Amino acid sequence: MRYVMGIDVSTTGAKALLVNEAGDVICAVNTPLTLSTPRPLWSEQDPKEWWSATVTSIAGALERSGVRASDVLAIGLTGQMHGLTLLDRDGNVLRPAILWNDQRTGQQCDEIRARVGRSRLIAITGNDALAGFTAPKILWVRENEPEVYARVRHILLPKDYVRYCLTGTFATDKADAAGTLLLDLKTRAWSAEILEALEIPADWLPETFEGPQVTGAVTPQAAGETGLLAGTPVVAGGGDQSAQAVGVGAIRPGVVALTLGTSGVVFVSTEAPVYEPEGLLHAFCHAVPGRWHLMGVMLSAAGSLRWYHDTFAPASDYDELLAEAAEIPAGCEGLFFLPYLTGERTPHPDPLARGAFIGLTIRHGLVHMTRAVLEGVAFGLRDIFELIRQVGVAAMEEVRVSGGGSRSPVWRQILADVLGVELVTVNTTEGAAYGAALLAGVGAGIWPDVEAACRATISVTGKTAVDAEQHQRYERYYPAYRQLYPLLAPWFHALEH
Ligand code: XUL
Repeated sequence: MRYVMGIDVSTTGAKALLVNEAGDVICAVNTPLTLSTPRPLWSEQDPKEWWSATVTSIAGALERSGVRASDVLAIGLTGQMHGLTLLDRDGNVLRPAILWNDQRTGQQCDEIRARVGRSRLIAITGNDALAGFTAPKILWVRENEPEVYARVRHILLPKDYVRYCLTGTFATDKADAAGTLLLDLKTRAWSAEILEALEIPADWLPETFEGPQVTGAVTPQAAGETGLLAGTPVVAGGGDQSAQAVGVGAIRPGVVALTLGTSGVVFVSTEAPVYEPEGLLHAFCHAVPGRWHLMGVMLSAAGSLRWYHDTFAPASDYDELLAEAAEIPAGCEGLFFLPYLTGERTPHPDPLARGAFIGLTIRHGLVHMTRAVLEGVAFGLRDIFELIRQVGVAAMEEVRVSGGGSRSPVWRQILADVLGVELVTVNTTEGAAYGAALLAGVGAGIWPDVEAACRATISVTGKTAVDAEQHQRYERYYPAYRQLYPLLAPWFHALEH
């Protein structure tokens, strides 16, 4: 048997996943990572910890599975997107990485719009400037830490720092590169125009590759640390969302990936570089060569339910909590929950947005509130579906749902009824790491292309059909939900002053 390894450097852990050439998961080892929030709105991690955690996970996976390093054909990388990692000329880390969920760069986003022109920025990159993206972070360091900036020679994304430690090469994939706001979406290459307007030297950026392309090989030093064989090829892989899409087979227009993790993501593949005219959806390259995707990100999806559970019902089992909520009528008798507990990205790019329960009456109790949380998240995801429909990409033929929240049949039913689309589940549950392993398998020649890899390994295991009557009820409630953010936004913003 031969194997491939997917490595996922997420915000919470570094995971190593061993997959055999039939697509079966042999072993998964996750090593937790720490997150630092030294100031309000800041979110940072130590890149060296990404590497040490990755070493632990790779070594653990090889040891636990008993797989011989010489039988690992290739490695694929994925991870949290947008994080800024700065290295000096000798490859030393210059400061903690500034992560995707860091919100300090509002001012730099305005500066980018002013330097490039907002519509030109969207036309080139497919996206408006968002505090989470990489480019505004580079400007922030230049303005706030000039002594650090003066020493910068390399800019890397999180998983690509791990790639550098594994292979000694500076490289990234097109999907993650698109999330920097420095890539020309159409040509899938760094944009000279944007780099010039922002005065960022092009030679600080890594070379970009398509997801299955080999970017380098494990060095003897990394082999010594991890137990891998020196010379094992490492493919580009993809940012976590595009690798997640590969991992559930959402690789062609019509197949939508709906991920219900801490955040909620709706991901559609496109055959051309399509973007939302106001930049309200992210438009990035796919990890599949020559494909692109549109994506909407809700920041607190299953994260809202976790907060609700920990705050209001910490002693309850999640299954019990959700089963009770199934007894409450759809629409919760007019009780709504806004899921903006950590601000929002899509469709309201607003770090100051807040969560809320609205419409409480004396008839409402905790169980109504539980259901309102499940429905509020579903309504927020419906907002993203509506935006995608407006852009007019291919019909959404099949919606593949994954992530922790999707394990609940109650929540899946609410989602299907609010969205008005049937949901399907698939056999693969290791998400982005699995996608990275498939990309490695394509790079190693196990499968001729990503389509073949997905066809050989991913299958539909279940369906949640729309209940027409419930859907009609939600059609009456959804317009009321849509009114709430615009009504409350001025108040959210006033709270900050
Ligand atoms: C995507 C995004 C998150 C991070 C962390 O735009 O911000 O998916 O990659 O997972």
